[in-house]
Formats: sequence, C-alpha cells, structure tokens
Amino acid sequence: MSVPVLTIDGPSGAGKGTVSRAVAKKLGWHYLDSGSIYRSLAIFALDRQLDLQSAAAVAELAQQMHLAFDCEDELVVKLNDTDITARLAGETTGAAASQIAAYPEVRAVLLQKQKDFRRLPGLVADGRDMGTVVFKDAPFKVFLTASAKERGMRRFKQLKEKGIDANLDQITNDIILRDRRDSERKNAPLIPAEDAFYLDSSDLSVDEVINQVMILTG
Ligand code: DC
Repeated sequence: MSVPVLTIDGPSGAGKGTVSRAVAKKLGWHYLDSGSIYRSLAIFALDRQLDLQSAAAVAELAQQMHLAFDCEDELVVKLNDTDITARLAGETTGAAASQIAAYPEVRAVLLQKQKDFRRLPGLVADGRDMGTVVFKDAPFKVFLTASAKERGMRRFKQLKEKGIDANLDQITNDIILRDRRDSERKNAPLIPAEDAFYLDSSDLSVDEVINQVMILTG
C-alpha cells in the first residue's frame, strides 16, 4: 500500500516547521524536518573542522552520520548518540547547512535517509525539495512562503524565544542570502513543484494556514 505524503516546501522562516508539526499531529502522521538533517551534517562537519568547500569530504562524512529523531513532544535529535538539539537552530548552523546542501554528492547520500521516514499511516515532510525530488509522487503538496520582511521578523522572534541573541536586520539579510543560494543552486533548487498549492502566509495567522493545509488533505 502506498503511504500518503504531504510535502511542505518553502523558504526559511515561512512557518513550515510550525505548520507541518501541527498538521502531522492532527492527521496522526509522522513528521520529517529535512532541514534538521542538513543542519546536523553541518554541525558534524564544523565540529570536525572540515573544509566546507570540499563536497567530497562532506559527502564522505555524511556516510558516517547516524541520526536518531525523537518527535514525541519536542524534536530531539541525536548525532552518533550525542544530543545536538540545542545547536540545531543557530544561524551559523543554517548558513553552513545551506552551503553543504548545494553539493549533489551530499544530497545523494542524504536522499535515502529522508525516504526512510515514509511510513504508515502517512508522512508530513518539510523542506526545500520534498515535493520536487524526495517525494515527487506525493499526493498533497504545498509551497508555503511569506515576504522576506515577515519571515525575518518571525525568525527573530523564534530565536529570541529560544534565548539566542539576534539582530533583526542581520537575520533578514541572512534569510535573503540563504534563499538566494537555496533557489539558485543547480541541484534540487527551492522552487514550487508544478502541482503544489501555493500559499503566501504573510497576512495569515498560523491557524489560518493550518486550516488551509488541512482542507487540502481532505
Ligand atoms: O529548513 P532549514 O532552515 O532548517 O534548512 C537549513 C538548510 O538546509 C536550508 O537553507 C537549505 C537546506 N535544505 C535543503 O537544501 N533541502 C531541504 N529539503 C531542507 C533543507
């Protein structure tokens, strides 16, 4: 039996994580935060003081990465048995993740790890290429976006809540740069799947977005 998948792709700070988690909970489906896989690899590579410009070295490291996800209440991620959850959200991690995510060799190694999340009764997968590459055959696809200003503001608040020091202008600029890199890369760029439902959340509340996505899944 084919396992249904709802893909939610979009730029950073569009609210994909919040919406995906809420919808997964409502549907009783599993949840894949694919960005955290790239972020985990970035942490692994930074800790090993690897040259992030070496696609081959980062891809090799990806082979040695064993991740355990626990999504009971809050997401807990263990990298080779060490809890790295607290380090995932930082902007340095996000920027490094975006850099290594541009390498086709790295994406190839991480592809199967993401596909393995597809289990009954269903999966909500959030990322950049969930609907275009990893779960191309998904029956439900959303492209969730918002203006860069709004996304900068949301990320700023999120980091503040986590007690991480942040500067709004810098966050917004970092977001614009990261989006550009994610959108302009050759391999699996951030673009809406042809069959995706395009949703701009700039002027919508979280609940309104969740409702719209729930309607889509029927
Ligand atoms: O969603 P996020 O901010 O946690 O993702 C961090 C980076 O990882 C993002 O800038 C690009 C990369 N990424 C990707 O290339 N493909 C995905 N499916 C998810 C994330």
